[in-house]
Amino acid sequence: MRKKITIVGAGNVGGTLAQRLAERNYADLVLVDVVEGLPQGKALDLMEAGPLVGYDCEIIGTNSYEQTAHSDIAIITSGVARKPGMSRDDLLFTNMEIVKSVTQNIVKFSPNCILILISNPLDAMTQLAFHVSGFPKHRVLGMAGVLDTARFRTFLSWEGKVSVTDTYALVLGGHGDTMVPMPRYSTVAGVPIPELFSKETLARLIERTQNGGAEVVKLLKTGSAFYAPSAAAAQMVDAILLDQKKILPCSVYLEGEYGIDRLFVGVPAKLGSSGVKEIAKMMLSVEEQVALQKSAQAVKELIDLMLTKGGMNR
Ligand code: 2OP
Repeated sequence: MRKKITIVGAGNVGGTLAQRLAERNYADLVLVDVVEGLPQGKALDLMEAGPLVGYDCEIIGTNSYEQTAHSDIAIITSGVARKPGMSRDDLLFTNMEIVKSVTQNIVKFSPNCILILISNPLDAMTQLAFHVSGFPKHRVLGMAGVLDTARFRTFLSWEGKVSVTDTYALVLGGHGDTMVPMPRYSTVAGVPIPELFSKETLARLIERTQNGGAEVVKLLKTGSAFYAPSAAAAQMVDAILLDQKKILPCSVYLEGEYGIDRLFVGVPAKLGSSGVKEIAKMMLSVEEQVALQKSAQAVKELIDLMLTKGGMNR
């Protein structure tokens, strides 16, 4: 039997992710949304692309959760996207209610699945899903670092005038303005970027990476990025479904690692069939450690807001 993946939210991210996963042809898909006809229409359209593209997995669109039963992976993209001028944190209370209810429904029908969060503010929503689901920490993770890293790599390749395939980059921390691009661990053809670019250039590329999501929101005016976010999520799904044991920066639950306790924050994690297999250890400089702590603190402030004003129970 093929593996089964549920995608909740049939908007731009969910729809594009469904297309990317359908084209991989390694799992049956269920697309869920509250809007009547939207998931059904996208699922039908995707199925009708199958004969042309050459995939034959099953794709179901539905407004309820019954057909999501026994999913191996559930990806939550639901929630409102920010508008120009808004930060991801401005979405906290609205998306909190949505993610809570979606998580409860997913857990009811797929108690053994691996949950991947994409909804914003990402790290806080992942923490919320962790609490609501009651799942062990290795089965709950958030997509952010892979996306932020891809943005950083794009800018590095433009600056160095080299193929993106020659670049490697790492971004740690929460998926917000305080994210921590890591130049020492980022390379072009194996050469660490501090050896290739001036401090000023690096600062400019880092700032652009930190504002990468907002830059797209400003251009689109209605909605936020979806091609790169869906590609990032698909890479995480590959790592899990194919048991690749790939080390990817993801929002994972830390219990003392990197000096961060009981908080979802982006760090490199090894992904495989059981979800998060291991948190990769890296040596951080004092400066990098300070930046990561600052980013973790920004995530903690959102969690505290959910606990005090949003009615989230631990
Ligand atoms: C982004 O960075 C939507 O948070 C997502 O584009």
